[in-house]
Amino acid sequence: MKRRDFLKWIFRGTLSAWVLGAIGAIFSFIRIPRVERREFEKEIEVGEYEDLKIGEGKFIPHLKEPLWVIRTEGGYIALSAVCTHMKCILEYKPDEKVIKCPCHAAIFDLSGNVVQGPPPNPLERYRIEIRGERVYVIL
Ligand code: FES
Repeated sequence: MKRRDFLKWIFRGTLSAWVLGAIGAIFSFIRIPRVERREFEKEIEVGEYEDLKIGEGKFIPHLKEPLWVIRTEGGYIALSAVCTHMKCILEYKPDEKVIKCPCHAAIFDLSGNVVQGPPPNPLERYRIEIRGERVYVIL
């Protein structure tokens, strides 16, 4: 390979790498929104009944409304994980058996009622269905 051909080859390679990098950088800013199938679901399969021990909770990141599914001594409950004050995502505190808002320190009981803080309304509660050993939240 002649020196001139070699330099051409290097130049083209560098240019190609630069163009691909630029295209990659542009596409990293242009994100096509991913539509999660869960947004359109009418029910969510939580898992097996025994997956959660009494007192444990599972966060369900549903696009329409994230949920907390919690197994209590009376069975499963499903509550919205969105604070009714200013829409912060709530945190389940199994040791205290409450759901807390990290934004303005609101506290909800496991019925979804406001125990403390500024939220104007209780949490939305969803119906649970048990089919065989499987747990479902009905939206
Ligand atoms: S957003 Fe939850 S208490 Fe304000």
